[in-house]
Amino acid sequence: MIKIGNVELNGNVILGPMAGITSLAYREFMKPFGVALSYSEMISDCGIAYENQKTLDYLKTSELDVPVGLQLFGFDIKNSAKAIQIIENCAKFDILDLNFGCPVHKVTKTGAGSSWLRDIPKLFEYTKAICELSKKPVTAKIRLGWDDQSINVFEVSEALEKAGVKAITVHCRTKEQGYSGKADYHAISGLKEILQIPLFVSGDIFALDDAINSVNITHADGVMVARGGVGNPFLITQIDHYFKTGERLPDSTVADQIRYARAYAQKLIDLKGEDIAIRELKGILPHFFSGFPGYKKFRLAFTINMSNKNEMEAIFNGIERETKL
Ligand SMILES: Cc1cc2nc3c(=O)[nH]c(=O)nc-3n(C[C@H](O)[C@H](O)[C@H](O)COP(=O)(O)O)c2cc1C
Repeated sequence: MIKIGNVELNGNVILGPMAGITSLAYREFMKPFGVALSYSEMISDCGIAYENQKTLDYLKTSELDVPVGLQLFGFDIKNSAKAIQIIENCAKFDILDLNFGCPVHKVTKTGAGSSWLRDIPKLFEYTKAICELSKKPVTAKIRLGWDDQSINVFEVSEALEKAGVKAITVHCRTKEQGYSGKADYHAISGLKEILQIPLFVSGDIFALDDAINSVNITHADGVMVARGGVGNPFLITQIDHYFKTGERLPDSTVADQIRYARAYAQKLIDLKGEDIAIRELKGILPHFFSGFPGYKKFRLAFTINMSNKNEMEAIFNGIERETKL
């Protein structure tokens, strides 16, 4: 069993943080598919420190969402310390995660996200200070390095472990790569062997074989699923089940996908209200039907012809008729 500080995981598939996606509704929906640990989307320490309401909303968790890590991004220990104090007073969570991987210019130009990877001594001092003041176990999410010329994932991981983090997830790309190219699992082969803490591998886990391959190469304790789970929640079940039993489960059917999509849509509507939920669903529902040839018209309909719940239902009904369900 994987232990992150005092937090025990009942599996080794974790849900990757995704800004704009991994809301409480998404995490609650994904959990029963076999998620051992979920992470919130990245939350600005300044936003929390200044008690910005929209930022504070990201701190919402529930009993269905346990264990859960809240992910902070920041560039300065003073803001982060204040944010942690507020989070510990007003949020229920199990793990504090530090974002050292975000490649977005708006974030890195402040010194936050993957910018930290460029200065290991500074990263060490910041992380050590956070580990000392946090009451919850601290984890970190990193990339291979800033660019091809400065891959330093081994040095960064050792510094983070020494600073006191209790687990590390590596997105196997550099900051410069953003989300392009392939995740390079070989770049962290041997890393597990020099760490005492759990290691998770992230990047391009879109199918069960990607998960198996990534663990075979890296010997990581577990995998983080991010984009691959959007519209394909059963992927988590397939990976979790395989790691626990060695058995492969068949892919989900269209009927399953309709059921999952309806359940997720209802959860989002309940938590965010119909207007906001429908806007977000336009970007997410098409993914539930992306593996099925001939369904392009339905994917487009979710994006273009859906402005309320009734129109969404009409599209689901259309899929059911087409599939003769
Ligand atoms: C839309 C989007 C938003 C993301 N937001 C975050 C974030 O807030 N924090 C973070 O650490 N990683 C974030 N990531 C990175 C993912 O957690 C993950 O490491 C990356 O997408 C690679 O995994 P995948 O190929 O399985 O998606 C984001 C990725 C995407 C696509």
